[in-house]
Amino acid sequence: MKEIDKAVELLKKGDIVAIPTETVYGLAASIHSESGLKKIFEIKERPFFDPLIVHVLDVAMAKSLAGRWSKTCDILAAAFWPGPLTLVVKKSGEVSDIITAGLDSVGLRCPNHPVALEVIKKLNAPLAAPSANKFKRTSPTKKEHVLAEFNGEVMTLEGGQSEVGIESTVAGVFEDRIEIYRPGMITKERIENALKKNGAAIPVKMVQSPVAPGQLKHHYMPNIPIVLSWDNATPNMEELGLGEKIGEEWTLEESPELVARKLYGFFREAERSNKEFILIVLNSHLKSQSDWSGILNRLEKAKSFEIF
Ligand code: TXA
Ligand code: MG
Repeated sequence: MKEIDKAVELLKKGDIVAIPTETVYGLAASIHSESGLKKIFEIKERPFFDPLIVHVLDVAMAKSLAGRWSKTCDILAAAFWPGPLTLVVKKSGEVSDIITAGLDSVGLRCPNHPVALEVIKKLNAPLAAPSANKFKRTSPTKKEHVLAEFNGEVMTLEGGQSEVGIESTVAGVFEDRIEIYRPGMITKERIENALKKNGAAIPVKMVQSPVAPGQLKHHYMPNIPIVLSWDNATPNMEELGLGEKIGEEWTLEESPELVARKLYGFFREAERSNKEFILIVLNSHLKSQSDWSGILNRLEKAKSFEIF
């Protein structure tokens, strides 16, 4: 039997399967399986107050899960789906409280990955899937990352390196505004432009959402400390308690697309090769460039130290 068909059988039985997406690998269950949904929280050690996002095949499937699907949603889905944008909308009765952590909204995303789409199509049901890592830890961008994270206990489909590399942009869609809860590679500007081009300009704001625990202060963390050095500031390693330690260094000079793709793999590779810290050197002019906002957000949450 093909791996994908095996995965679909497991999902039908109420089990979980890790699937590749273009952002990061996800730990998936059918939205119709309460046992599957509960397993996601258990194995991730994720608190029940943190809602899951739901992956759909297309806009028609998204509409079945939304209490209201506005013209704004149509425009954003047409512009960015399949792709790394999660739309948070009012939920329909199809979506259980386990998925939304009791909220009356649900995050919906159509992933741009053939394997993820084939699984959803064959299962003929939406898939709830958070990133396939333990709570607060680095998201996996390769199959072997998932196998290492859960000691090979979860069936994991092969899908190559995740092309985007960091998690989707999460955006709340309202009548009169868009709120970005988690920045990603689809930037505020790109969302604004898509709306403007379609004659539906409404304000797009970055907000710190208490309901989006991507907003927890510490998140995306490897097991070794990350030191951010801005504008080549020289860290005093003794003071940081890293005096005799051996680190892995990376100066961010490539395009944001390349840095995003490599970021989590770099964290994991440094850990795996027994490095004792990670030093990331970056220029403060990146702070004014929106295509870096997703990467800088992840680094802020993953860092232990910052030197200016
Ligand atoms: O790229 C991605 O989004 C990946 C792949 C697997 O699709 N998934 C992912 O899921 O990153 P997760 O659970 O690790 O992060 C989803 C984020 C969380 O910060 C969660 O709090 C937020 O989306 N979220 C989900 N539903 C929400 C809702 N109804 N309102 C506000 N935030 C929500
Ligand atoms: Mg996550």
